[in-house]
Amino acid sequence: MSPIDLKALIDKTEALPALPGVAAQALAICNNPRATNVELAGVISMDQSLVAGILRLANSAYYGFSRKVSTVHDAIVLLGFHNIRSLVLASSVKSQIDKPLQGYSLAKGEMWKHSLICAMTARDIAKRVKFPAPEEAFVAGLLHDIGKVVLNIHVGNLYQEILDKITTEKIPFTVAEDEILGISHAEIGARVGEKWNLPKDLVDAIGNHHLTDEKLTPQMLTAIIHVADAICLMLGIGLGGDGLMYPLDEKAVKMLGLDDKTIEEILLGVTDYLQEHEKLNW
Ligand SMILES: [Fe+2]
Ligand SMILES: [Fe+2]
Repeated sequence: MSPIDLKALIDKTEALPALPGVAAQALAICNNPRATNVELAGVISMDQSLVAGILRLANSAYYGFSRKVSTVHDAIVLLGFHNIRSLVLASSVKSQIDKPLQGYSLAKGEMWKHSLICAMTARDIAKRVKFPAPEEAFVAGLLHDIGKVVLNIHVGNLYQEILDKITTEKIPFTVAEDEILGISHAEIGARVGEKWNLPKDLVDAIGNHHLTDEKLTPQMLTAIIHVADAICLMLGIGLGGDGLMYPLDEKAVKMLGLDDKTIEEILLGVTDYLQEHEKLNW
């Protein structure tokens, strides 16, 4: 398929993944300031795999509750709508992100691990730099590479061509992807975000997370996702080609005001998340 055909195909929104119905309803409730805990628990309870995923994460060390969270209602009371929104998204996109992505040489589970650890890291960075919506950073981190799920089936043999182009021309991954496929996973990810009605700054963060457009001054959320992603790739979490020619952008580091000591602390945090991920086995 030529790049032109691929772009046309992806322009049809049906080609983009849909957000599962219950998750879409739950997110709408989370965004409604007048909604009640009972309403939200009622919708989430319609999907048992969503319930299981939320309770699993709510009981993990990420949240550090001393007592067991045993019902969705409990989880909502303890965590609040913002955190529950993140858990609903994480649980409902897991099956789509968890798949092996042969097109990007990522085995089953690798992309999920990369996305979840990046989401946790992004939230940590957001809190450190006093970004007012750390849960937005979690969601953007979780979804930043979702475009790969869409492109995966089209990449096929072209993956080697992309890698060769990066090596010979010394250009970033998304630029090579764009030149060979006609579109990058970041741009497709932004389209998925639009389809799911995510806020604009979140869509921008997904679309620009590689910061390949040097003329663009990144939004704060984009800079956070870039740093979290680059750190995960530096540590070899879900490498899959993305990490080639993908240095940590100095502009983003400066914009967030991260010094060496803070970056070291963030790296240590990632080690904890990785251990927790192993324990969670999810
Ligand atoms: Fe990426
Ligand atoms: Fe990534």
